[in-house]
Parts: sequence; structure tokens; C-alpha cells
Amino acid sequence: MTTRITIRRPDDWHLHVRDGDMLKAVLPYTAKDFGRAIIMPNLVPPVRTVKDAAGYRDRVMAVLPAGSRFTPLMTCYLTDDTDPDDVERGFRDGVLAGVKLYPANATTNSAAGVTDYRKVTRVLERLEKIGMPFLMHGEEVGSDIDIFDREKAFIDRRLSKWVKEFPGLRMILEHLSSKDGADFVKSAAPQVAGTITPYHLNLTRTDWLGAGLKPMMYAMPVIKTAQDRAALRKAATSGEACYFLGTDSAPHPFVRKVAISGVPGIFNAPVALPTYAKVFEEEGALDKFEAFASLNGPRHYRLPPNEDKITLEKSPWTAPIEIKVAGPDERTLLYRGGETIEWKVT
Ligand code: DOR
Ligand code: ZN
Repeated sequence: MTTRITIRRPDDWHLHVRDGDMLKAVLPYTAKDFGRAIIMPNLVPPVRTVKDAAGYRDRVMAVLPAGSRFTPLMTCYLTDDTDPDDVERGFRDGVLAGVKLYPANATTNSAAGVTDYRKVTRVLERLEKIGMPFLMHGEEVGSDIDIFDREKAFIDRRLSKWVKEFPGLRMILEHLSSKDGADFVKSAAPQVAGTITPYHLNLTRTDWLGAGLKPMMYAMPVIKTAQDRAALRKAATSGEACYFLGTDSAPHPFVRKVAISGVPGIFNAPVALPTYAKVFEEEGALDKFEAFASLNGPRHYRLPPNEDKITLEKSPWTAPIEIKVAGPDERTLLYRGGETIEWKVT
């Protein structure tokens, strides 16, 4: 039985760290384990321009623990009014790693997202021309679409058309949550890649809703069936280049998370790598873990993999229930808080 595994340092290709006191409280958990992370732009108000992104990057760098070599990779939030020239300048200057699509009202802080795809055609054409990654919250929202079918509806109505319309556009369908999503990515690789979260690999909707409502299992896209989970596990552990790690760690203040109308988002950074390792072990695929965590992502983003290494070992520890946050947020609950975590980053 394998009890230790050493791999190149992983990157997190989808991360929310927020701002202010929350940023300060949660960033060290990611900076400790990961070399780089794609930082989501859905602040209030959103990170819309290169100027916004540069300012946000400075605030992230300012709260990094002393001596940390972590690098934030910034994104900007696509709106109906995004200026292609601004985005291009940000990419060329090394401020922006990609542009992020939130369909309007699909999830937390997405009210400023795209309402009419015709309005962003010029941006997509520009991304295609300059080879800049296009990151997607791939859910179609509408009164006719069941929440469990949103990912499939996005693929059918949008993404399957875009791959033909913009054959040179490099896309990432983030937080894959369904068999349909995993299958589509494979069929459209290498143009399209997909990230997978630890919780979509670990949970089913029965875990979330079947024995007491678990707010800490509520995220967008919602956790789906055991069949979907099985397809995602097969995809992640295949080692195929089109699938890679993106935690979607998304902290919220306790009072917003545990509420009559609770918010989606699962803070998992402190347990992310151990949870992925557990899944790879269960699938008998620890030999594929490095490809998923450390190699496939940089290849798709056309960046070099990290040079240094990390080691995980089987050494059980108990995850804290919550993380303290200074100021009015006070605390944030943690995914798998209170559970025994099998693997540990040494
Ligand atoms: O569950 C989610 N929470 N999904 C998202 O896409 C956004 C995120 C957040 O920002 O909390
Ligand atoms: Zn997210």
C-alpha cells in the first residue's frame, strides 16, 4: 500500500479568495500547498478591467505570508461591456491570465455577468486571436431549465456552437459536475479542458440532501448523482490532459452560509489536496495524481509546471470545523470540518 507520494507542486486552476479580512484569513491555506492559483474575479463590485485586476493582485500579494513563493494568476469578469483592447493589454502585460464568464445570475456575485452573448462576440474573437484562455462558469440559467440540467443546457445551447465558431479559442469548462460535462470536454479536447473540484469527486446529492440538509455541500453547479460522480472520478483519474485540478474553494461568512437563503460555495482549500489524494487512492490511480494536479493545467494554460515538489503522506488528522476571520465576517465553515482526513501534506 502506498503511504507517501511526492509530486511536482500543484496549482489551483479555480479559486475564490475574496478580499479584506476574508482574503487574509484564507489565502495562507492555498499559498502553503499550491504554486499558483487562478483567482476568481467575482468580488462585489467585480474585477472588470486590467486596472481592477492589478489592484486586486496587489492586495493579494500584500497579505501573502512572509517568504511565500505563491503566484496569483488574475482574471477579469466578462460583462456585456468588456473592452477587447483592455483585455488584450492585460494579457500582453502579464496582468491577466484569462477572462471569466459568469452567465448573469447563475451563481454568487454574478449579477453583472453576461446577459446577451451577441454583446461579447468581439471579446471572444479577440481571445481567439491572441491565444488568451476563456474560463467558463458553464451553466445555462432559465425558467425552463432544471437546476440539475444547467451544465448540459449550456453545452447544448452555447459551448457546442462556440467550439465550431471559434476553433482557435482555448476554453476551460470549470468545475465539471456531470457525466455530460466530462464527456463533452473529452470530445472537444484539446480546445476545451475542464477542472474538477474535490467535492464533486467526493459527494453525491444524496450526501447533500439525504440525511439532514448540509449547507457545506451546497455549491454551483450543484452536486449531482452517483453516476455523475463516477464519471468525474473516471475522468480525473484517467490522467488525460484535458482534466485538471480546480478546487473552487469559496469561503463565505458563517451567517450567510447557514441561513434561510444560504449562499452556494464550499471553502475547501485546507483539505483540498488530501481529499483529491483520497479519491485517487480509492480509484487505484495515485500514479495519475501528478498529471491531474501539477502537469495538465500548466500545459493547457501554456505555462511551465512548477519545479519544486511536495509530499503527501497517509497520516490522519482532524480538520477544524471553522476558520476564524477578523472583523465582521468572524468565521467561515470548512468543507470536511471535524472529519478525519486521511492524507496530509508534509
Ligand atoms: O458555489 C459557488 N460559489 N459557485 C460559484 O460559481 C461561485 C462561488 C462563490 O463565489 O461563492
Ligand atoms: Zn467558482
